[in-house]
Amino acid sequence: MIGKKLTVRDIINQKEAGEKIVTLTAYDASFGRLLDRSGVEIILVGDSLGMVLLGYESTVPVTMEEMLHHCRAVKHGVERALLVGDMPFLSYQIDKREAIANGGRFLKEAGCDAVKVEGGLEICETVAAMVRAGIPVMGHIGLTPQTAGALGGYKVQGRDGESARRLLAEAKGLAEAGAFAIVLECIPDKLAGAITASIPIPTIGIGAGPQCDGQVLVINDLLGMFEKFVPSFVKRYADLAPQIVGGITAFRDEVKSGAYPDAEHSFVMQGEVADLFKQDKG
Ligand code: KIV
Repeated sequence: MIGKKLTVRDIINQKEAGEKIVTLTAYDASFGRLLDRSGVEIILVGDSLGMVLLGYESTVPVTMEEMLHHCRAVKHGVERALLVGDMPFLSYQIDKREAIANGGRFLKEAGCDAVKVEGGLEICETVAAMVRAGIPVMGHIGLTPQTAGALGGYKVQGRDGESARRLLAEAKGLAEAGAFAIVLECIPDKLAGAITASIPIPTIGIGAGPQCDGQVLVINDLLGMFEKFVPSFVKRYADLAPQIVGGITAFRDEVKSGAYPDAEHSFVMQGEVADLFKQDKG
């Protein structure tokens, strides 16, 4: 189901029309293509690739070059979805000029339509400067993995009055700064509902309940391909890891036994040339 290329305006219109926004992560062209074909509206090249693909312990070590490399790959597979590149830790926090320069690289060098940054009130001026420079920005508040250490680990946020009020203020601040959408990660469902109702731009929830304007998951979690840990909010729609291991084991067994490759999977020599190589039966 490929159709007209989606824009940031189309995504905001979906909120206005009450149509849920489907978002998933992708890290390479083949998954980008599959997600696009499935009608996913936003494809996020998340810095989760550090943990899911590169085997890091967190998203902190992910670099600009790694992000741009995977964004370029996904771009090759995507025609319709809005492509969002995740800005890695310390690529936008140091100062506005650097944030604009690095954000611009996602658009100019990797073909992304927008970027995502983590953070609340402290990041609003930077978001406003990036938007003024022509870079569409998606916010990300609640559990922000790049600074999970400072938040006391991977914990649900906004459980008490003070932090709930702060999250509401952060969402409003980001909307006023010109963000076109905000990811709400790991916050209670009713707080996500209140934030969603109080801002004009879409909220995309991950572990934030059903009242958000859209939902996002990490593709490897959804397909059961990442087994290191599975957050409780993840619903697995497929269980691919055992199937992948099953396929690889069958290949290994057939190579060992000589069953693969058989004649059907070989280029069988024919005619005169075959006669040349006939084994001497005498
Ligand atoms: O890095 C990522 O994949 C993300 C999403 C899970 C929102 O930030």
